Amino acid sequence: LLTIKDLDLAGKKVFIRCDFNVPLDEFGNITDDRRIRAALQTIRYCLDHECAIVLASHMGRPKGEYSEKYSLKPVAKRLHALLHHDVTLAKDVVGPDATAKAAALQGGEILLLENVRFEPGETKNDPELAKKFASMAEFYVNDAFGVSHRAHASVEAITHYFDADHKGAGFLLQKEIKYFHKLLKKPTRPFMAIVGGSKVSGKLEALINLLPKVDKMVIGGAMAFTFLKAAGLEVGNSLVEDDLLDDANHIVQEAKRLGVKLYLPVDFVVAPEFKEDAPVKYVTYQEIPADWMGLDIGLASTRLFREALSDCQTILWNGPMGVYEMDKFARGSFKLANYVAESYATKIIGGGDTADLIQRVGVDDEMTFISTGGGASLELLEGKTLPGIAALQVDGDDDE
Ligand code: 3PG
Repeated sequence: LLTIKDLDLAGKKVFIRCDFNVPLDEFGNITDDRRIRAALQTIRYCLDHECAIVLASHMGRPKGEYSEKYSLKPVAKRLHALLHHDVTLAKDVVGPDATAKAAALQGGEILLLENVRFEPGETKNDPELAKKFASMAEFYVNDAFGVSHRAHASVEAITHYFDADHKGAGFLLQKEIKYFHKLLKKPTRPFMAIVGGSKVSGKLEALINLLPKVDKMVIGGAMAFTFLKAAGLEVGNSLVEDDLLDDANHIVQEAKRLGVKLYLPVDFVVAPEFKEDAPVKYVTYQEIPADWMGLDIGLASTRLFREALSDCQTILWNGPMGVYEMDKFARGSFKLANYVAESYATKIIGGGDTADLIQRVGVDDEMTFISTGGGASLELLEGKTLPGIAALQVDGDDDE
């Protein structure tokens, strides 16, 4: 895999695919610009090398046509503020405005195309659209880890229009690959995976792939109830995926066979309904009342997990322990975030919800690496090859 530093791009036109898919509030203000900041190193490197820079990104899931709601206007503004450099936003993606502006672009100038998903061909990996993107530049750099699990035109198809020495990974993509590679191939042991979130179905493949690689595994969040029910316990009205009880049992058996220490929560914060202002009780796992549901793990569980992680050298965390968006059900995730932060291990945080919760707790600086990809990092944990990364690879590579 070539990286941006291997490319002879000084003074040249470079197309950089970024993932600027950032959350916006109801007024269109960016509420978390981490993904934009994560792309700055690559953009600055290209500025330092006097490149003419064409930036491309998607935002949200528009239906293949222009929609003001999904415009990259807020991104252009934030980029300008962070870079202290002019950023021109094209009115379209590969239409007359973008094409003319890209053609006229000079070294040291930055053009941001409109949301690539305004073009219906983007999500179809359309070669014609990819060709239009490619015709805008001499080099292609992928720095969009968060969308590298999508075979889309500006991620995958576009790579076919550049010679091997004219395409490569930006600094962010490189960093993401490096950390996940080390984690999955040669972690420093003991290695603990903390897996949470609401559904086993969303994490099943990741659990199965991780199990032979880890020494300890914590299963938290509502996922735990499927495991508890599979073990014959009463879980009241808690979320359970009945069709996955066998899979849960299989994972428990596999853990035993492999000698992996499996940890489940031992107490919960329960409520009669899924509501911020619902009354709550703190109960052990043996005492979940019928008609009540578990919405967070309890203090005994966080202490148990803290004990378990205390000797670990590598910690991977993907998925919250409870409904952390609601104050009453946030304590389990927040406490665990602090415990993980205190550890001297290499601490890798999966993107999406877990990254968000780490930021809310304010311990992001304590983590070794926080991924910018939710779906993309999960697919790496599942052992999959990401099309956006595979497309940049050359024979003999072992980058994933
Ligand atoms: C993400 O937010 O996970 C990425 O930007 C990919 O977005 P998508 O799930 O809409 O493809």
